[in-house]
Formats: sequence, C-alpha cells, structure tokens
Amino acid sequence: MERELRVRPIKDGTVIDHVKAGQALNVLRILGIKPGSKEIVSIVMNVPSKKMGKKDIVKVENRELREEEVAQISLISPEATINIIRNYEVVEKYKVTPPEYVIGMLKCPNVNCISNTSEPVESKFMVTRENGIKLRCYYCERVLSENIADHLL
Ligand code: CTP
Ligand code: ZN
Repeated sequence: MERELRVRPIKDGTVIDHVKAGQALNVLRILGIKPGSKEIVSIVMNVPSKKMGKKDIVKVENRELREEEVAQISLISPEATINIIRNYEVVEKYKVTPPEYVIGMLKCPNVNCISNTSEPVESKFMVTRENGIKLRCYYCERVLSENIADHLL
C-alpha cells in the first residue's frame, strides 16, 4: 500500500478526487489558485484509477469549497468527488452534480449573442449530459462542449 502513496494524506481541507484526467490545472483555475498563491496544494495528474482508467487529484489544505466552485468543477469533471478532511479523517464525501442551468458563469462563444452585448443580460446555459457535459446557450443555442474552462467568466 505504501508504495502506492503519491502524495501524503492531508490534515484539514478538501480533496477533489476522480477529476477527469488532464483537468487538474483547470480545477486550480476555478479555485483561483495561481502564481503567488499562498495555499498549500498537492496535485496528481494521470494516475491510474480503477473506475476511470486515469484521473487527476487536487488537494487543497485548510479550505472548503464554495457552492459555485463545486458547480464549476462539475462542468469540467462530472465524475469528481469532493472529500472534506478534518483531522485526517474524511468527514464528508459527495459527488458533484452538474446544475440544470448555469447563469453568469460562462461567456457565450457567439459574439452576437445578447449575453455579449451591452444589454444587461447575464449568460445562461442549459446543461445536458450526453457523452460528457454539453451546454446550450439559452439565448442563441450555441453549444459548448469542449474546453469549457476556457469560457469561464
Ligand atoms: N485523503 C487525503 N487525506 C486524508 C484522507 C483522505 O488526502 N487525511 C484523500 C485520499 O487519498 C483519497 C480521498 O482523500 O484520494 C478520499 O479518501 P478515501 O475516502 O479514504 O479514499 P477512497 O475510499 O479510495 O475514496 P473513493 O471511494 O471516493 O474512491
Ligand atoms: Zn449565446
């Protein structure tokens, strides 16, 4: 078992596990962790996983996630699990669930969309799950399915 250990257990914080392989850096982006950040973060990328083949893991110490951050993670990685760690124990574990609609979170790729004009209209996408996440703009029907993290506002 010890030979399997890549990063050590954390004392307090959040482990975002079963992140879609290749999405760990986008999870950091969602969490606002960037050069200069003071937080203690461990990331593991492309490790073997029984359930998923390959997965990423992000551990952030001394921090619990906001609802909005969890919703954003669910869009780029619908299989992710959130584990809350207190005093080394997993005290809470849940799967992220993509919301039905995402409002004011992503920029519509259609420059002519009403949500991109000077009108006071917040972007709004309907979320569907078919072979991963698909988002359809409520106003112009433009579909977003790849590189969703690149459209985060
Ligand atoms: N973890 C951690 N620090 C702790 C406790 C757990 O970093 N003090 C991590 C584990 O390494 C794992 C995740 O949190 O990546 C969930 O822990 P656990 O529920 O013990 O693991 P599993 O049973 O493998 O989880 P699952 O059933 O969700 O696959
Ligand atoms: Zn649109």
